[in-house]
Amino acid sequence: MQPSAHSGLAVAATPAQLAVVDAALARLRDLPGALLPIFHAIQDELGFVPTDSLPRIAEALNLSRAEVHGVLTFYHDFRTSPPAPTVVKLCRAEACQAVGCRSLEAHLHQAHGAAMGSTTHCGALTLEPVYCLGNCALGPSALVDGKLVARLTTQRLDAIVAAAKQKAAAPGGRS
Ligand code: FES
Repeated sequence: MQPSAHSGLAVAATPAQLAVVDAALARLRDLPGALLPIFHAIQDELGFVPTDSLPRIAEALNLSRAEVHGVLTFYHDFRTSPPAPTVVKLCRAEACQAVGCRSLEAHLHQAHGAAMGSTTHCGALTLEPVYCLGNCALGPSALVDGKLVARLTTQRLDAIVAAAKQKAAAPGGRS
């Protein structure tokens, strides 16, 4: 994993979400290096790691709150707020930079309001960075809801945003 660039606003956890955190702690706290597996388990279930769960994680692992917060915010893979229904992870590594990934990032920001680590104005799509997807020869590359997309263009990005809006508007599109 690479250092964090995520900048979403933290939201308060619900009792149900804190129950997910407690279950992850009960299951994984005795593993060596348990903190990262616990963060992954929570994010797999909730889509993010609630920051107000950090005190109980720190207490369970006998770590300081600052240590736990530092690890959470160091890795870009961890979110502290729920993502939009569609998540685009745009590759920022060297080979994709050479074929224009930065201009795609700028397009998403200018045309749709999603700076890296944030969500489009419409609330349908969250943009996150990733550093090499092993698809360098076919860049710019991205993962769209976990599916690899090659030779990305601004036109294809616009189509992905349009599909994300449809998905968000569909029944059950937003959690
Ligand atoms: S540099 Fe983007 S997929 Fe490798």
